[in-house]
Amino acid sequence: MDLAAFRPATHSMQTVSVSFDYPVLFSRDCLASDDPSLAWALSRLRPDRRHRFVVCIDANVLAARPSLVAELEAYVQVHSSVLELHAAPVVVPGGEDCKNDPALVQHLLQTFAAAHLDRHSAVVCIGGGAVLDAVGYAAALVHRGVRLVRVPTTVLAQGDGGVGVKNGVNAFGAKNFLGTFAPPFAVINSGRWLEHLPVRDIRAGLAEAVKVACIRDAGFFDWLEAHASRVTTPGADLDHAVRRAAELHLEHIRTSGDPFELGSARPLDFGHWAAHKLEVLSQHGLRHGEAVSIGMQLDARYSERTGLLSSAQLLRLTRLLAALGLPRHQEILNKKINGQPAVLAGLEEFREHLGGELTVTLLQDIGRGVEVHALDTAVIEQALHWLATPGEVLVEPRA
Ligand SMILES: NC(=O)c1ccc[n+]([C@@H]2O[C@H](COP(=O)([O-])OP(=O)(O)OC[C@H]3O[C@@H](n4cnc5c(N)ncnc54)[C@H](O)[C@@H]3O)[C@@H](O)[C@H]2O)c1
Ligand SMILES: [Zn+2]
Repeated sequence: MDLAAFRPATHSMQTVSVSFDYPVLFSRDCLASDDPSLAWALSRLRPDRRHRFVVCIDANVLAARPSLVAELEAYVQVHSSVLELHAAPVVVPGGEDCKNDPALVQHLLQTFAAAHLDRHSAVVCIGGGAVLDAVGYAAALVHRGVRLVRVPTTVLAQGDGGVGVKNGVNAFGAKNFLGTFAPPFAVINSGRWLEHLPVRDIRAGLAEAVKVACIRDAGFFDWLEAHASRVTTPGADLDHAVRRAAELHLEHIRTSGDPFELGSARPLDFGHWAAHKLEVLSQHGLRHGEAVSIGMQLDARYSERTGLLSSAQLLRLTRLLAALGLPRHQEILNKKINGQPAVLAGLEEFREHLGGELTVTLLQDIGRGVEVHALDTAVIEQALHWLATPGEVLVEPRA
């Protein structure tokens, strides 16, 4: 039977459209009593009544700011006409481990059930991208989704994952194997959190800013080059970098036409096919942003070797990442499986995660990504070899 010629007799195509709105606020310190962001975000749809919420806090954020719970309670007191903190804060172990622990999701679900959250209650999550992903996943499952207010506390989460529409946990050896598309109710980015963040995590978060600059905004790339020595210290420059990265990610989600990633393309995932694999191969010893730094240099070198990108632009990228203190090579890149670089398996896993046709973003210029549907493994192996050899002299002219 010729399926192309088939026309169903009774045609009842169901079309469902749902639009989502969520504010992303930028503030200095959302727990300061004179900062209305959090109270407004929680009560914005019904400012005439009190809103119950449960708060989940990244354990490392709490350790870095031990007065956090007292500050939060004082904040709720000041805004008691609209806020009602339900139950004690839930402290969630920070970092990638929380996404690897199925018992944590279970624990969160039980906590939300015990708190009798309804679909108009909220979960406020204060933490890094990993805690936001795990808590967001649990919040999306309860009653098929309760309101989630994200308060991202890392550079990466404020500029990238925390402002987006996804959540997820790792399972069966694969990153983000379980997860949902669930736009948050609101996001509040406060620069104050970044003052507690270890410099390693600041650097790692800036890798995503470099990434989005590479594929979308040459002017932002120039700015990062000019501010590389200052941007790793908390303050106005770092706040600017985070804000610009967030804006570029938000613009993409708003205008790409595919916020729930139904197609095979993932234009913002420059450097990510290798990065995801490297994170797993390193047993999450590498930060996501560190893996992205390596993945971007691999794909930029590939772009340069295949004639897409000039050697001068590749050099700018490697220099900027080095200036930000981000890695170019890790021993893990030498790992082989059946004589092949282990990282290569990341390509098929990336395709599988996206579904459909392999789509990888390469670089055509600083500020301009380009999608391709096949990569030559021999060229990838050459690029891997280049990564392993230190020094920028390696950016030799193309033969
Ligand atoms: N959902 C998405 O769209 C999306 C997008 C990009 C990345 N991600 C995910 O985000 C995760 C990485 O997030 P991340 O880079 O924020 O790292 P992270 O959440 O692992 O945080 C890094 C470390 O810093 C700690 N920390 C967080 N905030 C702190 C603060 N203010 N002060 C002191 N310590 C603090 C954390 O506990 C952790 O130990 C990965 O799991 C990645 O897959 C998700
Ligand atoms: Zn990323």
